[in-house]
Amino acid sequence: MTDLPDHVRRNRAFWDDRATEYAAPAEENWARDTPTWGIWGVPESDLKILPADVTGRDVIELGCGTAYVSAWLARRGARVVGIDNSEAQIATARRLQRQHHLDFPLLHGNAEAVPYADASFDFAISEYGACLWADPQRWVPEAARLLRPGGQLVFLTNSFLLTLCTPVEDGVAAGDRLLRPAFGISRVEWPGEAGVEFHLSHGDWIRLLRTSGFELEDLIEVRPSVDALTRYPFVTLEWARQWPCEEVWKARKSR
Ligand SMILES: C[S@@+](CC[C@H](N)C(=O)[O-])C[C@H]1O[C@@H](n2cnc3c(N)ncnc32)[C@H](O)[C@@H]1O
Repeated sequence: MTDLPDHVRRNRAFWDDRATEYAAPAEENWARDTPTWGIWGVPESDLKILPADVTGRDVIELGCGTAYVSAWLARRGARVVGIDNSEAQIATARRLQRQHHLDFPLLHGNAEAVPYADASFDFAISEYGACLWADPQRWVPEAARLLRPGGQLVFLTNSFLLTLCTPVEDGVAAGDRLLRPAFGISRVEWPGEAGVEFHLSHGDWIRLLRTSGFELEDLIEVRPSVDALTRYPFVTLEWARQWPCEEVWKARKSR
């Protein structure tokens, strides 16, 4: 624990504290056979986040939390491993594994340093996991190391635009003004009891992916449907229908 980088240690405590409030949504997501993504529950049929066929594929979820994404992949025939920094989130995941009679390895650890050999996986995914809470300069090269040549990395996180428009006051939704400079953003600590987040500009993501050995395949700007709902207070549907509040990055490890 003392060897952990400061942001990993702080985010461990933060997520151990928040795990209880994530249990109920986890139960809903585990019970769902068809994936829906992000804070608006956009259907997989719209976003096509998962590869068409994952049968027999080695998959890792980086920052799996309650591991419902891993569960969806396991049900589709993948050999899945989930890693998460929070023991409490993993405890929820283990309970739901038992309830749903699904068994796959769940590791308590830091997605910036995963105890698996090079080229162990065909697909790596993160939905608001390592891609938001781990240092991109560490977890992206680590994802590249873990993937086989031709393997795919997909992650979904807050859009950069939303980060620029988010007020510092807790629970206040983003408005239509830029509230901070775009240059120089990486580590972001909101005031109060928040954890440590990481937000990169598009140029910084592209350069980091490329220098880590990825070819960029797509950047999907997520638009919720007109009747979408969210339990999160930091963005309204009116905002999210006009500007992307979430983005999905797809990259492939060079052959
Ligand atoms: C919003 S959850 C996302 C996971 C999942 N989609 C969910 O909603 O349960 C964020 C997760 O990222 C995990 N996390 C944060 N930093 C991490 C790190 N360095 N390595 C692995 N997991 C990390 C947290 O412990 C937390 O469970």
